[in-house]
Amino acid sequence: MSEVRASRAQLGDRSLFPELTARAYLAHASISPVSARIRAAVEALLDDYERGGALAYARWAAQRRRLREQLAELVGARSEDIALVSSTTRGISDIALCIPWSPGDRVLLFCGEFPANVTPWQRAAELYSLKRRFLDARDYLEDPAGALSALEAELALGARLVAVSAVEFQTGLRMPLARMAEICHAHGAELAVDAVQACGAVPVDVVKEQIDYLSSGAHKFLMGLEGAGFVYVSPRVVGRLRPRVAGWLSHEQPDSFLHAGPGHLRYDRPIRQSADFLEGGTLSAVGFAALGASVEVLLELGVPAIFSHVNRYLDELEPLVVARGFRSLRAPDPERRSCILSFLPKPGMNLEQLRTALGKRGVVCAIPDGLLRFAPHWPNHLDEIPLVDRVLCEALAEMDGAGG
Ligand SMILES: Cc1ncc(COP(=O)(O)O)c(C=O)c1O
Repeated sequence: MSEVRASRAQLGDRSLFPELTARAYLAHASISPVSARIRAAVEALLDDYERGGALAYARWAAQRRRLREQLAELVGARSEDIALVSSTTRGISDIALCIPWSPGDRVLLFCGEFPANVTPWQRAAELYSLKRRFLDARDYLEDPAGALSALEAELALGARLVAVSAVEFQTGLRMPLARMAEICHAHGAELAVDAVQACGAVPVDVVKEQIDYLSSGAHKFLMGLEGAGFVYVSPRVVGRLRPRVAGWLSHEQPDSFLHAGPGHLRYDRPIRQSADFLEGGTLSAVGFAALGASVEVLLELGVPAIFSHVNRYLDELEPLVVARGFRSLRAPDPERRSCILSFLPKPGMNLEQLRTALGKRGVVCAIPDGLLRFAPHWPNHLDEIPLVDRVLCEALAEMDGAGG
């Protein structure tokens, strides 16, 4: 493991991904490939548990405590405001269940969002008799000032919460979170953010941006494995949450009965009033060992440096794809850009066929809801770009030849 750790990560250098078969891997907004650092961390964990069973627990519980600190550093939070969860959805659902709703409270949602940030709020609406109102996330691309005014007008009618993504999964639009939080708070509402398309590659600062709740899975720009993630709950709001999803590990001194002798087995200990009450049961040791290894790399490189590197890549890629007949959906304002670059194809183009033709030639990308989406990350080198362009040209020619 020490040898792998010694090999420092560098922007544009994919030597930590020696087994990656793609020539240009541009699907980090879907699932990141596994680095050698993750493999080493997971193997170390498995070795420990293979040898020691329960004796390995303390070491990896300590690793998860460090991980909360690393994640806090990544998003500008305090570690006590972070809880480890199994997915973006789990984090959002837990928050949605624990907010002290009153019947008739209004929740503002966005069309164009990934369903992970809609379904949990719809379920809460059913359970607690809330009212839902959909706004359109695309308005923020076309007319950001108008979109913010529309949000303000909705908030003026009264709303309890606004749920939005930090980065929209289709268009890659980076939402104006700080401004949205300011308007929400001015009208007594809270802001809940799905940050899975941002965390790890786009700067996020929960304190500066005044975010109330934030949830992110591990397997996209955080570059961990599926089945892990984290939630941030602002200290401003955590005391108001109802612990409706608490479990045995949510209490004060939850496990003292396991190591402090007789007389500690009780069911009346208070539930902790910190974000980690959401960690009600035993967590995924493997998932968080992997996440620790990937976040360590992200912190070494620094998110602002990763963001600049990726945007230099996208600056070069964008005109080449436009020249092949696609319409870029990148925000004109650099402040609204992310590490996702999506294109609208010509009408009638078979995108599934295009993705397959690109994949066959070693360029891996995604096609969410009718768009062609490229999502590089720190290991992508700008030298790949001529290859991506050539492969796109060949794939389009093959489709033309096949009448696609
Ligand atoms: C914005 C957004 N939220 C959530 C998810 C997935 O959530 P989960 O981590 O719960 O699978 C995705 C993509 O898979 C996404 O693009």
